[in-house]
Amino acid sequence: MQATINALEVENALLYTGQRTNVPVLMDSFARRLTYLRFSVTDFCNFRCNYCLPNGYQGQRPKNELTLAEIAFLFEGFAQLGTQKIRLTGGEPTIRSDLIDIIALAKQQTGIETVAVSSNGYKLGKHIAGFRAAGLTQLNISIDSFDPFMFKQITGFDILPQLLKDIDALLDTTDIRLKINGILTASNGMDNLALVLDYIKHRPVTYRFIEFMQTSDNRQLFFTEHTRAVAMKHYLLMQGWQPLTRTSDAGPATEYAHPDYVGRIGIIEPYAAHFCESCNRLRVSSVGKVHLCLFDSSHYDLRPLLAAGDIAGLKDVLQGLMPIKPEHHLLTEHNSGLMTNLSLVGG
Ligand code: 5AD
Ligand code: SF4
Repeated sequence: MQATINALEVENALLYTGQRTNVPVLMDSFARRLTYLRFSVTDFCNFRCNYCLPNGYQGQRPKNELTLAEIAFLFEGFAQLGTQKIRLTGGEPTIRSDLIDIIALAKQQTGIETVAVSSNGYKLGKHIAGFRAAGLTQLNISIDSFDPFMFKQITGFDILPQLLKDIDALLDTTDIRLKINGILTASNGMDNLALVLDYIKHRPVTYRFIEFMQTSDNRQLFFTEHTRAVAMKHYLLMQGWQPLTRTSDAGPATEYAHPDYVGRIGIIEPYAAHFCESCNRLRVSSVGKVHLCLFDSSHYDLRPLLAAGDIAGLKDVLQGLMPIKPEHHLLTEHNSGLMTNLSLVGG
């Protein structure tokens, strides 16, 4: 069903007043405001997560990733269209030696309130000072299991003990907000929850379970390991966890809090009905392709505009794409579009 947008909504969108006035905002044909850019700085990853790159990244790291100058134009164009939050993803973003400069670039744009990075946490300790100096607001680290053996089974890397030490150093020495993400699978859901609850009891951390999504590379594992978060949510409610109201620039999780716990639990349910109704995201790949939906079957090349520094042209193209942002993904029909694995545009 095509949603109709009335003139008032269009005017509201054009004169969007969050913290700012007279800033246009990107709005699609379902009246969703797209204020959150997820930019993959490289699709290369050093890990071998069994649901993503079980045999590791194939081939050499590409040489044609966007340059710092192109990234600056990208951020400027999005910021002028009302983007409030930029997340740097990958692959593994810390692979890029100029990641700190990219964070600083995002941070200096007018209107960008939140700059976040999603990382697998490899050698996190080495990056903490740079993250802090560049003004990083939020860091998301993947920990699919708090059992070191399972962690190694899933990722191919035996680094959980070191990663946990580095995370404690981050919490002790910075005010960067930390979220930890883990994939929810049939064999590792409730076991991991018990360990997660111990971990967040005294730490100001949100741990988010993400329902396992199908991609064209992970079909076999998907059919044995996919599970919905319904049972886990039921368990949390029974234990006295309360869902919190979602804020406007929030990610896709429903967060739960409990008076006896400092940390929170988040649940991300891409398979739930209506999940996409609150979508506020656009994604750009490391070579400058904009993906209107994570699981879309096409993408659009922004690179010529970025290479030419044509910000007006970039804004026109983005506005022009708004009417064709899909209403929702087709995962329930087992259609994952272009998504071979999530290292392409970082989930
Ligand atoms: N389904 C759900 N989550 C995934 N991630 C990667 N691939 C998938 C998938 N197929 C998640 C990882 C990591 C984040 C970057 O993306 O768990 O936390
Ligand atoms: Fe694992 Fe993320 Fe790397 Fe994929 S891109 S292998 S999920 S760390």
